[in-house]
Amino acid sequence: MSFKIIGTGKFIPDYSVDNNMLTQYVDTSDEWIKQRVGIASRYISTKYTTNEMGAFAAKDAMEQCGVSADEIDLIIASTCSSEFSCPTVAGFVQKSIGANCPVFDINSACSGFLFCLETAAMYMNSGKYKKVLVVGSERISRLLDWSDRSTCVIFGDGAGAAVLEAENGHYLASKLFTKGDTDIILIPLDIGNSPFYRGEAKKPAIYMLGQETFKFAVNSIVNDSLDVLKEAGLTVDDVDHFVPHQANGRIINFAAKRLGVPEEKFVSIISEYGNTSSSSVPMALDMLNRSGKLKRGDIVVLSAFGGGLSSAACVIKW
Ligand code: ACO
Repeated sequence: MSFKIIGTGKFIPDYSVDNNMLTQYVDTSDEWIKQRVGIASRYISTKYTTNEMGAFAAKDAMEQCGVSADEIDLIIASTCSSEFSCPTVAGFVQKSIGANCPVFDINSACSGFLFCLETAAMYMNSGKYKKVLVVGSERISRLLDWSDRSTCVIFGDGAGAAVLEAENGHYLASKLFTKGDTDIILIPLDIGNSPFYRGEAKKPAIYMLGQETFKFAVNSIVNDSLDVLKEAGLTVDDVDHFVPHQANGRIINFAAKRLGVPEEKFVSIISEYGNTSSSSVPMALDMLNRSGKLKRGDIVVLSAFGGGLSSAACVIKW
């Protein structure tokens, strides 16, 4: 059965921070960030929680396709940066839109939205779930060490969402990958104040080996895209749009070159938004959708990679 995407949405938080503003906090420069990462600015949420941003994006997607809350059979959200373990982002979205359906969150770091899509596809294949709302929402700014220039310049906040409707022939192929690892990307959380805790208390922030992540990222986009295209019986020449995770403009350029695809086929929003973790793919997809460039029948490859380590890709016939 699987699904087609009938609506997309996003939420951009309130405060745009350009590279020059970051020079107040760390030893960096607009030139370095633009050249090495391809980012000019990012939006930071000064007041909206991850849950609230997810709800705004969900409403945006539902509005676009005219789907009401009582039509939604399941809500799945992706986050690795929520301020709350409970309620989940999906639970908060449910309350905000007034839906009455099961909900849960998935955490697969930056790949999370694609893990949500695959999970939604499996639920829809059961025949029981006809419309599923998927959301990616991240307030990564609260997980950054703002004195670490190798991470704090890269990320931004935001949310994206999509409404899925059960229909055959659109979700053509998919791949999920995880390699348990604590060395390359680590995001420890606050350990609380239990008097019984005997482990090491690491500061809650993102720790990342940039160059190792970079190599993993390029290989993931290339290999995962080729794998799902092969599974769908397609080649890179059949693809109208690649929507990759937005982590570094150079990662996108390298991947395009290795795939032999013109860069114009790759959606890139990183310059204005930075790396919004699992929100980046649905945000980029929504921008593509609203640009008028996406037509029914187009072949779209989504791909993502990140902490876990994890990666994922899928081919969609729009
Ligand atoms: N400003 C100025 N200089 C900097 C900055 C900065 N913001 N950050 C690092 N540098 C310096 C380093 O200190 C180093 O200086 P040195 O040579 O004197 O030691 C020099 O720049 C080169 O550092 P590298 O780490 O080699 O820089 P690189 O070109 O690899 O860029 C970056 C670093 C941007 C992190 C890059 O490796 C990258 O994008 N990696 C992938 C990140 C990614 O994809 N993350 C996604 C997953 S995150 C998740 O899942 C939560």
